[in-house]
Amino acid sequence: METTEKDKGYSSETEERIWFSFSRRHFLSLAGWGLFFAAIGGYLSQLFGYKGFFYPKVIFEPSPRFTVGDPKSFPENSVTKLKSRRVFIVRDGNSFKAFSVVCTHLGCAVEFSKEKDIFECPCHGSKYDRNGVNFAGPAPRPLDHYEMVLDHSGRLVVDKSKVVSNKTELVV
Ligand code: FES
Repeated sequence: METTEKDKGYSSETEERIWFSFSRRHFLSLAGWGLFFAAIGGYLSQLFGYKGFFYPKVIFEPSPRFTVGDPKSFPENSVTKLKSRRVFIVRDGNSFKAFSVVCTHLGCAVEFSKEKDIFECPCHGSKYDRNGVNFAGPAPRPLDHYEMVLDHSGRLVVDKSKVVSNKTELVV
């Protein structure tokens, strides 16, 4: 008796079905593992990755102490605004002072008026004299006056972490 392929149980139709079923299972299996490893990777990156769980929760700010340059680079009897540092450097003769640009009322940035020789706040009209002392408007106190020193190479250094009296000055 002759045996046909159909009798052996693997006709071409069965082969196709097996191949199709295996392929789908294989695909689903791969997709499942892929998702699993992606989830593990995401979890581990949360723990150990950049700004992950173990990354210190701190705010990086520029140092409050910085060099502003050679005293001679500031003209005599001048007020220089260092915008990036948010300070004014006031030079009168050989005396130097550093004032905050932040208005003591609600924190707007004050500007120096050369014509009037005063600091003025554009928000609510507070006025400060050349020494940073408030004399008009709602500002409750003088501008913050920061400590200034000379470093070992003779350059001016401002320390915004140290507020000093408005009468303090650095004489060079
Ligand atoms: S913020 Fe300067 S006067 Fe109000």
